[in-house]
Amino acid sequence: MDSKAFVEELAAANQALLDELGDVRALADSHPQPRDGLATLLRVALANEISVAELAARWMPTVADWDIKIALAQQAGDEARHFILLEKRLATLGISLADFAPPAENKLFAYLNSLETPVEKIAAGQFTLEALAYKVNDAFLRYCELVGDKETAQLYRNFIQPDELFHHQLGRRLLEKHARSDDDQRRARQAVTKTLAVARELRAAAAQKLGTACFPGC
Ligand SMILES: [Fe+2]
Ligand SMILES: [Fe+2]
Repeated sequence: MDSKAFVEELAAANQALLDELGDVRALADSHPQPRDGLATLLRVALANEISVAELAARWMPTVADWDIKIALAQQAGDEARHFILLEKRLATLGISLADFAPPAENKLFAYLNSLETPVEKIAAGQFTLEALAYKVNDAFLRYCELVGDKETAQLYRNFIQPDELFHHQLGRRLLEKHARSDDDQRRARQAVTKTLAVARELRAAAAQKLGTACFPGC
């Protein structure tokens, strides 16, 4: 299949699940929480940002094409900047990160780390995970507004979200360029489906624990 048509099809096939995961109707099920509840959600964001920065950095030397290398390097830097912005926000709220430790590898990152080909990595990472991040962050920033934290909402709206969207678009362009063979397209489809399935499972479990489905991605 022509790679542009393939990417169109891939995006269309996953739109329903992405919409479900980033459904702002979840806001209706989330009760406004005290400020320390929001801080817990910001710590989830920190864990996600550092995990995805590390993943992109780890993938960089495993790919040969310069455009994929640079895209991963750029993403790693952006995710690190998101971490710093969120860390500063928490400091402003009086919350210290003295006890923060990078999270252990969860089921999603274990799967992502197992991917072998550049096209699978781009399909699962920038194309899918960043689309998911954009969706769930959008629900989260609305949640922040609902509970009166305009500053955090602005941080997401003005600084973090434009980057997440850019990462997804980078992934899209790279897939259009590199996902040309039948084998690459088959692997990419599989990687996208599995990434969304595992992310959905983990987010459902985390939502139970956190008491809200409106928590950020990466
Ligand atoms: Fe991201
Ligand atoms: Fe991020």
